[in-house]
Amino acid sequence: AAADQPAAPFPKAEIHCHVEGAAPVALARELAARAGRSLDGIVSGETYRWQDFDSFLAAYDAVAGLFKTPEDYERLALDYLSGLARQGAIYSELFVSPDHARAAGLAPADYIRALGRGAKAAEDAHGIVCRLIVVAIRHLGPERAVEAARFARDPAFTGLVTGFGLAGNERSHAPRAFAPAFDVAREAGLGLTAHAGEFAGADGVRETLDALKVSRLGHGVRAVEDEDLVRRIVAEGIVLETCPGSNIALGVYPSLDAHPLPVLARAGVRLTVNSDDPPFFATDLSREYELAAAMGLDAARRAGLTRTAIEAAFVDEPTRGRLL
Ligand code: ADE
Ligand code: ZN
Repeated sequence: AAADQPAAPFPKAEIHCHVEGAAPVALARELAARAGRSLDGIVSGETYRWQDFDSFLAAYDAVAGLFKTPEDYERLALDYLSGLARQGAIYSELFVSPDHARAAGLAPADYIRALGRGAKAAEDAHGIVCRLIVVAIRHLGPERAVEAARFARDPAFTGLVTGFGLAGNERSHAPRAFAPAFDVAREAGLGLTAHAGEFAGADGVRETLDALKVSRLGHGVRAVEDEDLVRRIVAEGIVLETCPGSNIALGVYPSLDAHPLPVLARAGVRLTVNSDDPPFFATDLSREYELAAAMGLDAARRAGLTRTAIEAAFVDEPTRGRLL
């Protein structure tokens, strides 16, 4: 490259980001003003404010409730993915929640189509490839999760919705309660992931693997509490969608020094890094790669994070081949 050109950013990929959780504060402010509402209490500066996991989930719901039209979501997808591409990202998977769309008065199918238009515009403009993972919200219960899985398998979304997952409060409902929903999604050929090992420990991770048969774990980091489980995760090639900045913001670990990413890396676990809900945790994908560097992952290992994300992506093989 010519000396006067800025260095190309380190190639990145992200497979764990909640779309409403990616809403920039400036956009939320604008949508709140349109609705005649104030964001006082949930915003400070360019980040959202909350005290603990429950109030984080409440703030998330409040922000999601501001997105009322397909255009709002099209814009969110285009804005977020454009920013991600500027950070060097070549691939993104977004968690999307039909329950949040419905709660805001938006038909879930319109929500998916709008996000698809935003994703297409971002790919046309920046080359970044994006796929959607429909998530069920755990604290809404297992029946709603089955409905979300049935929604996710709609042939109208083939090639765009490529996965099914489980987000929300890990302290509510045992993993096995969601086996019927994951069975529906698996039979439809969707990729499977579930949040586990964030607010529950190794037992929750083990039951998630046994009952839901996922190939990836959202966070999964607390598997480190059980050496046998870590060996199993390595042997089965399960990929962890780690989100170190999120973990520290939510107090899962008190500091970067306490984060298990280096231990998991040394054990041979397949790892990725992700921003989760970036403006809620004052982070972005670049910062997550920087945190990985601060935890001792050298450039080759950080390149491995990107490669693992592409290998584990819920994407068609020709596209995976082109990205690898
Ligand atoms: N929804 C959005 N972010 C989440 C997280 N970190 N854990 C569980 N559910 C979520
Ligand atoms: Zn998450």
